[in-house]
Formats: sequence, C-alpha cells, structure tokens
Amino acid sequence: MKETCDIGIIGAGGVAARHADVLSGFGDARIAAVADPDGERAAALAGRHGARAYRDHVAMLESEALDAVYVCVPPFAHGPPEHAVIEAGLPMFVEKPIAIDLAVAEEIARRVAAAGTLTAVGHQWRYLRVAERARELMAGREVRMLLGHWLDKVPPVAWWSRLDGSGGQVVEQAAHVIDLARLLAGEVAEVHALESRTRAGGAPDSDVAAATIANLEFQNGAVGNLAATCLLAWKHRAGLEVYAEGLAMELSESWLRVHTGAAPDVVEDEGLAKTRIDRAFVDAVRGLDDDVRTDYADALRTHRVACAIARSAVTGRRVAVEEGALW
Ligand SMILES: NC(=O)c1ccc[n+]([C@@H]2O[C@H](COP(=O)([O-])OP(=O)(O)OC[C@H]3O[C@@H](n4cnc5c(N)ncnc54)[C@H](O)[C@@H]3O)[C@@H](O)[C@H]2O)c1
Repeated sequence: MKETCDIGIIGAGGVAARHADVLSGFGDARIAAVADPDGERAAALAGRHGARAYRDHVAMLESEALDAVYVCVPPFAHGPPEHAVIEAGLPMFVEKPIAIDLAVAEEIARRVAAAGTLTAVGHQWRYLRVAERARELMAGREVRMLLGHWLDKVPPVAWWSRLDGSGGQVVEQAAHVIDLARLLAGEVAEVHALESRTRAGGAPDSDVAAATIANLEFQNGAVGNLAATCLLAWKHRAGLEVYAEGLAMELSESWLRVHTGAAPDVVEDEGLAKTRIDRAFVDAVRGLDDDVRTDYADALRTHRVACAIARSAVTGRRVAVEEGALW
C-alpha cells in the first residue's frame, strides 16, 4: 500500500464535499478524482482538491490508479456505481441509504460478499462517543423498550420528496436511528407502521409521507417505536431513548442523558464522528486498523428494517423484516 491513499468520489454533492474536506485533512489520503454526470459539480469539487473531474464513473475507474472509492450518489442512483467499483476490485465507502429498495441492495451485498470487497457505510452515529458510552452503560443489561424519532424539515435536494428518488423519510433519514437501535438492542423481527396522508413539502408531485409512526418488535423481545416527520421548517430532534431495568437513556447526535432516578447525568459528544468514520475507512484500506463499524452486510440489515417499515406503512399490515426482503 502506498503512503498516500488515492481516493475517487462518485457523486459530487453535499455529502461528497464533506467527505472530501475530511479526507483532505488526513496526511495519508488524497482526493484524486471526482465523477458526477453534472460536469460543473464534478469540476467544482475536483478543483477544490486538486483532483481530476469526470462525468462518468466508469471512465474515472478506467483512467485512474485509485486505492478506494466513495459512492456519494442520491439513493435512487445506487447500483451501477457499486457494481463498477466491485468490478475494479477496489475498497468502497457507500453513503446511506444504500438504495431506495431492497433488490438493488441485496444484489450489491451478494457481489460484495463474493468478491470479498472491503466496504464501509456512512452510519457515522456508531462513532459518536456518546453512543460508545451508551453501549458501555448497557453492558450486562437488557434493553426492554426504545423510542426513536427523526423530526425534521424536507431537505433541500430535488430528489427527496419522491419515493423513487429517496425511498422516503424512514429509508433516507431515520435509517441512522434504526442503525443505532440495532446496535443497542439487536435485530428487529417485525414492524407495523402507519403513515399520514399528507405528503412531504406539499409539492404536487411529492409522494413521500409527511409523517410515519412504526412499532418495532426486536428478536430479544424488546419493543420499540419510531416516529418520523418532515413537517417542520427546522431540524427539531433526532435520536433514541433506551429503557432497561432501572436505567433510561436519551441519545442524540450531540449528547447523552443518563437517568437512574436522581438528576440526569449529561454527557456532551465531542463532535468528531464524521471524521472518525473516514479515518477508520482509510486505516482499513491501508491495513493499519480494523475499526469499520458498519460494513455493507450490516447496513443491509438496517436497510431491511427501513424497507419493512415502508412496506408496512403502505400495506397497513405487520411485516416480518425477513419478509421485507421481498419488497
Ligand atoms: N451520513 C450522513 O450523515 C449523510 C449526510 C448527508 C447526505 N447523506 C447521504 O448522501 C447521499 C447524497 O446526498 P447529498 O446531500 O450529497 O445529495 P446531493 O443531491 O447534494 O448530491 C448528489 C450528487 O450525486 C450526483 N449523481 C446523481 N447520479 C449520479 C450517478 N449515477 N453517478 C454519479 N453522481 C451522480 C448528482 O448530480 C449530485 O451532484 C444521500 O443518500 C444522503 O442520504 C448522508
């Protein structure tokens, strides 16, 4: 492995810019190339990092001697980029959600496993110090109940308000909370969801529900609830409450409140999860460390839960997460 890890980025939007800034701050990583069908966006991001710009990710993979690739496309565009990276035999960081549905994600997972591709997925909440602290506090206890929420606005990207663009709010946003719930309470067995008839943002062609509520039954017998809305003009709250015998915890992206009866113990997060997730991936690519906390196979389990909720909200019936694989 070279001293400097040359990285290609597919998709040059908001999250790609964030990863590029973080990666460029490491001494052992360099943005070598950026591909986006929007040539101006590719050129702008590439220009900021002294990288080459491409409109086509296949041309980028053929022309560049890359060590790893970040796939930062919108949810609807997953599939062809991942298959091309697997074909090229390169490690791959994929942003969440890994697709808008299960068929695309299941097929990528199958090919990742067959090729032995090193993968990481952008569930950076696993790198929150407060999530690590919550796990320590849960050691030796059984989670009995979880209350998750993502109460937010419609994000300012054109593809978000269409199911065939984003997959809906639970798939696109609340996936972070589902991933955290799985980390603390294990796998979800079954879900039952309801969604409001109001559509996101009120745009005439919007088909994403403005509010969704889901009940979750975990394999270990714990029960949970997830509430998501995009009715607001601001990000109101996103996080998870966890209840065990004699212990209540409230976890957000910035802090953890621990209740054992007296005044809550409040722990502030250091705010480095978005750096730590990229550091872990580069270390894994360079063979220096093995701290990738969500690989593709694991992210698929989170995505199955989100898709099962989406399916249940539409069909109105309980959906086993395994059954969701048919969605
Ligand atoms: N982990 C996180 O906290 C986090 C934060 C923000 C966004 N995201 C995720 O990242 C993804 C992208 O979000 P964004 O805000 O950057 O979106 P965006 O719309 O700002 O950018 C997406 C870019 O991908 C490009 N694109 C579309 N199809 C493509 C293709 N086939 N090949 C290459 N490029 C293509 C678009 O032209 C656009 O420039 C979303 O799935 C989002 O959920 C994750």
